[in-house]
Amino acid sequence: MCGIVGYLGNKNTKEILLSGLKELEYRGYDSAGIAVLQDGELINHKAVGKLVNLEEKTKNFVTDKFAVGIGHTRWATHGKPTELNAHPHLGESSYVVHNGIIENYAELKQELQNDGVKFLSQTDTEVIVHQFEKNLLKCNNEFEAFSKTISELNGAYATLIITASLPDTIFFAKHGSPMLVGTNDEDEKFFASSDSPLIGLAKEVNYFEDGDYGYVTKDELVIFDKDSKKVKPNFSKLSTDKLSAQKDGYRFFMEKEIYEQSDVIADTLIGRLSDEEIIFDEIDKNLFDGINEIKLCACGTSYHSALSASYMFERYSKIRCSVEIASEFRYRSPIMTKDTLFVVISQSGETADTLETLKMAKRAGLKTLVICNVDNSSMVRGADNCILTRAGIEKGVASTKAFATQVTVFWMLSLYVAKLKKSLTTDELKYQIQLLREVPLATKVSDDMHERIKRLSKRYLHGHGFFFIGRDIFFPLALEGALKLKEISYLHAEGYPSGEMKHGPIALADPELFTIALLPEHLLYEKSKSNVEELSARDSTICAISSLDFDKADDFIKINSCKDYMLEFFEMMIVVQLLSLEISVRLGNDVDMPRNLAKSVTVE
Ligand code: F6R
Repeated sequence: MCGIVGYLGNKNTKEILLSGLKELEYRGYDSAGIAVLQDGELINHKAVGKLVNLEEKTKNFVTDKFAVGIGHTRWATHGKPTELNAHPHLGESSYVVHNGIIENYAELKQELQNDGVKFLSQTDTEVIVHQFEKNLLKCNNEFEAFSKTISELNGAYATLIITASLPDTIFFAKHGSPMLVGTNDEDEKFFASSDSPLIGLAKEVNYFEDGDYGYVTKDELVIFDKDSKKVKPNFSKLSTDKLSAQKDGYRFFMEKEIYEQSDVIADTLIGRLSDEEIIFDEIDKNLFDGINEIKLCACGTSYHSALSASYMFERYSKIRCSVEIASEFRYRSPIMTKDTLFVVISQSGETADTLETLKMAKRAGLKTLVICNVDNSSMVRGADNCILTRAGIEKGVASTKAFATQVTVFWMLSLYVAKLKKSLTTDELKYQIQLLREVPLATKVSDDMHERIKRLSKRYLHGHGFFFIGRDIFFPLALEGALKLKEISYLHAEGYPSGEMKHGPIALADPELFTIALLPEHLLYEKSKSNVEELSARDSTICAISSLDFDKADDFIKINSCKDYMLEFFEMMIVVQLLSLEISVRLGNDVDMPRNLAKSVTVE
């Protein structure tokens, strides 16, 4: 996701900005840029792709005296990853960088355009700098113009502005997106969207609260709070451990990524929902013409998201859908007909087996689509069409936020097809889109829930096995829960359809067999409940996850009551992820780098 840095001081501004951006690389980005105001001159460089491209562009750019500078790594949301869309964005004589989303950008842009302002990018960010310059004409000074601008923005932001008429000042504002400022004995000032760029440079840091805004000069750090009251900085010492700084205070990347899901799902949705339809500008308008079947192909967690998609495609889009494990598909002489859309799903875009199936489908002349988290990966380059999941870089080997965003994309895609095929009424479509908007809330991790799971986890460190069980779309979630647990705890776990237990596995039931039962209130509740009762009657230890109390369980994890089973799906996803995490932590395992596993499986 996007990253921000800023610097004010006498040292090598370019180097400080570039190395700060390097520290934020792990968040993922597809373009980057810096703007520096030195000797009264504003200079800006931007590049698409990795930071080496920006380093190459700036190799002759010398910053050897007092300057102010801002930098940004951008993960494309509004508009493609191009140089014009990369930050910093220029007005007449000011530059802005911004993380987050300006919800009222379309109205502001329209007004500015009516006033004759020309926009160069497709981003929401550019309105900030033009609005600031519009206000400069009306206000008494730059800070007044900045304050007015901030008061006119709706949405979430962390933003920095520099302007030619005040060459010793950086303006800042934070609301909903993280940002901190650091300083040291040499009165240098450093900004960043997370700790790591400041380590080794700043002595103490102030984490901004939502609603904070103000400015820095060499001598001052002036902060106003959300009520426009001047407040003192609340400095704290900075950790010296870069790896732990990248984890933003979480113990493991996996934990951080579980907590990030609410935000990254919001990113996945940005620009893709209107009230009555799903917008995927990135795919060919005629992609579904002549298509009678969708075939999904993937490995591991991505396979589980594909399985969940098959329920949505058949239920919402009324289109035949089959799902294949890539390593099986590639050697079983499959029948491929041209009325099938072949979809590969991959976090990395590099998984060898999945990539090979994509090549097979292309050789057979099928239309292809990839759902992927990594732009420019082999699959993205290979497929005719691509939808990016926008989860940001996933560092934990056990996939969490990639899965969450894949399911979100599939849900949107099934509604996109439903609209084309008129398989849902307008009201049904509206209802589904409204539900999608509620997923970021459903995936917020509550402290109470996490605490409860931490406590419960101590009861699940032994036993001869786990069965995660669920029905319908909760069956793929059960598979995913079991995969998470076995990957990081090394305990044996299986995912099973609840109704299938009595056809064999129930023979294993005894108190040392742990059943993790997914009991959604709004989908086949009674049926699932009686399956769990069968296991309970045979003395299996039951941990039930539901919004409805269930007295046949030994342990019970209560999720929020939701209006639809799809929201319950996301609530339960968080529970099974946290349960695996906490069991693994108690067993003393390396959560982020489990034994025998690699993040990207580029061999067969
Ligand atoms: C599980 C996990 C793996 C991957 C699988 C496919 O936590 O990460 O099962 O899902 O190796 O990887 P991608 O999605 O990169 O193709």
